[in-house]
Amino acid sequence: ERVIKIGLLGLGTVGGGVYRVLQKNADLIARKTGVRLEVAGILVRDVGRDRGLSLPPGVLTDRPEDILDDHTIQIVVEVMGGTGPAFDYVRRALKRGKSVVTANKDMMAEHGKELFDLTREGKSDLLFEASVAGGIPIIRVLKQCLAANRIEAVMGILNGTTNYMLTRMTAEGTDFQTVLQEAQALGYAEADPTNDVEGYDAARKTAILASIAFNTRISFPAVYVEGISRITAEDITYATELGYVIKLLGIVKDTPEGIEVRTHPALLPRQHPLAAVNDVFNAIYVRGDAVGETMFYGRGAGALPTASAVVADIMDAARNIVHRVPGIISCTCFEERPLKEMGR
Ligand code: NAP
Ligand code: HSE
Repeated sequence: ERVIKIGLLGLGTVGGGVYRVLQKNADLIARKTGVRLEVAGILVRDVGRDRGLSLPPGVLTDRPEDILDDHTIQIVVEVMGGTGPAFDYVRRALKRGKSVVTANKDMMAEHGKELFDLTREGKSDLLFEASVAGGIPIIRVLKQCLAANRIEAVMGILNGTTNYMLTRMTAEGTDFQTVLQEAQALGYAEADPTNDVEGYDAARKTAILASIAFNTRISFPAVYVEGISRITAEDITYATELGYVIKLLGIVKDTPEGIEVRTHPALLPRQHPLAAVNDVFNAIYVRGDAVGETMFYGRGAGALPTASAVVADIMDAARNIVHRVPGIISCTCFEERPLKEMGR
């Protein structure tokens, strides 16, 4: 049985979930891929902290070169977050011909094109299913399953934290700070929850979805964005009385004036399918010229749902290494597409 070594950058909420799934489903993963995955190194800030995981001795390190310079590690899994060192480490890994799996929408929304360019020589994969909508397989759907379509619109609830908050505020009248703390304790929120509540996290995911849906390059600053921090208890009460639900939506449309990309709270009629998507669940509606309307639903955040997407990407990267076709599912050719002016 072939062994492929992987290195994790990060062992927090998502990294811990990835490690657990790799351990728990090791035999299943080996049967499905023909490869045994071995975690050979894990980068963290604090190597001394007890993580509640049964880790092999010496696997934790605070030196990125232990993973990036180890020629036996073929897949690097970036689950540390942010655009600072994470971007540098991923770039270094790709330059060394390693495949990279990441859950990092900040990095993909800001530096995706530069990273894809590094995969062009076909030495490595860059896979990022977990960067949008946690456990929902929406990147593959847009990139592969719906590839034959001209995508007309994508609309979704893309942030689990704010959907959890809005659900609890609507159903129980719980105040903003209390529900935000709950979402943080559940591992849903970003390291800086401003990214969630101000809509930046959903806007980054919207930029990624727009880029893939339209085979172009739309970066985060191009997205019109408003978060939920100014939504009051009165807004929720009035919306409820009038038969509406408030949801934070990412919206992408192909219009005659260009591509429209926006993220903001919206009033949805109670009968709308997205109005029934509650708690940490996300959902994405996609309309294509051939397939018509489709919807995808699942948990948008949390350790195991996100790990489900990360580990599936690791399995694809491993298969591609075995079959010597890395880069086959990376999206490397982009078209220039005009953006519709949204105003601020
Ligand atoms: P987290 O719990 O804060 O974990 C971050 C991990 O990275 C920690 O293990 C931390 O080490 C390590 N780390 C951070 N900066 C480092 C540095 N400079 N050097 C070495 N290690 C460093 O974050 P998370 O919630 O797992 O999120 C990770 C990524 O997944 C982010 O990009 C996030 O947007 C994305 N994501 C998260 C979710 C979710 O539900 N949480 C869902 C989808 C995608 P220590 O443990 O020693 O501090
Ligand atoms: N903070 C993000 C959310 C994590 O709540 O949706 C998943 O990307």
